Amino acid sequence: MKLFYEKHIFFCTNLRKDKEKISCGKHKSQELRNYMKKRVKELAIKKVRVNSSGCLNRCKLGPIVVSYPEGKWYKISSKEDVDLFIDELLIKRKTFKKNLIEN
Ligand code: FES
Repeated sequence: MKLFYEKHIFFCTNLRKDKEKISCGKHKSQELRNYMKKRVKELAIKKVRVNSSGCLNRCKLGPIVVSYPEGKWYKISSKEDVDLFIDELLIKRKTFKKNLIEN
């Protein structure tokens, strides 16, 4: 079966306004997601989609990214993390072990 996307990345950009509540949006996840999307486009990586998502319910470990179809979870907290993620997972198609979160 031919897949429309070979990798579908969901980047939590949920921002809770309540000061007491943790959320990925308080750790620049929107900026990081936009950077990832921009770099994927600039590098002309085909069959990859980078979407913003709401809360993925792993807030304390964030900023959270989940990749399908493999269903692996990652903490991506800097542009350097984004660059390594793109290189390892989206270009070389390996598991990005450095920031992998156990299921
Ligand atoms: S706010 Fe990102 S996982 Fe909950």
